Amino acid sequence: MMLALLLGYLLGSIPFGLLLTRFAGKGDIREIGSGNIGATNVLRSGSKGLAGATLVLDALKATAAVLIARALWPGSEAFAAAGALLGHLYPVWLKFRGGKGVATFLGLLIPLLWPAALVYALVWLAALLIFRISSVGGMTAAISAPVSAAVFGRQDLFPMMLGFTLLVLWRHHGNIARLRAGKEPRIGRRSG
Ligand code: G3P
Repeated sequence: MMLALLLGYLLGSIPFGLLLTRFAGKGDIREIGSGNIGATNVLRSGSKGLAGATLVLDALKATAAVLIARALWPGSEAFAAAGALLGHLYPVWLKFRGGKGVATFLGLLIPLLWPAALVYALVWLAALLIFRISSVGGMTAAISAPVSAAVFGRQDLFPMMLGFTLLVLWRHHGNIARLRAGKEPRIGRRSG
C-alpha cells in the first residue's frame, strides 16, 4: 500500500507543464498568467500543442500509476490514485507548489471507474463551452466525480472521490476569489 502511494506520488509529481514549456524555451510557466503549471496556463504561454500535451500527460501519469499498482499490488489502486493526485498538487520538487489537479483527477478515474471518467470529461467540456472559464470547467468536472461514484453504485469510492474533489476545490481558492471579484479570465486571455 505504501509502495503504491509512493509510486503514485512520484509519477504524479512530474510537472509536465513546467518541463514542456521549459524545454520549448518558453521560460518559467510559473511566471506567466495564473502562475499555475497546468494546461490552461501553458495555453496562455501561446502554444496549443504544449497545452494539449500537458493535459494528456498530466492525466496519463495518474492512469499509469493506478494501472501499475493494479498489476504489481492488486487492491492498492486507491493508494496509487491518492498518491498521484497529491504528487501533482504538492510536488516535493517544486517546494510543494504544484497544479490544481483537474487533468490528473480525470486520469486516475479512467482505470478506477471509467463511466465516471466519461461523465467527468463531458461535464468538463460542457462547462467550458458554456462558461468559457477554465477553472469553472475544472471545478464542475471535479464535483461530478463523487456524484458519479454514488450514481454508478461505487459507494466504496465515494469518500475518496469526495476528498479528491475538496482538495481540487481547495487548490482553486485563488480562482474562486477572482471569480467572486469578476476578475477570472476567460479562455484565451493572458491575464489571471
Ligand atoms: O486546471 C486548472 C484550471 O482549473 C485553472 O487554471 O491557470 O486558470 O488557474 P488557471
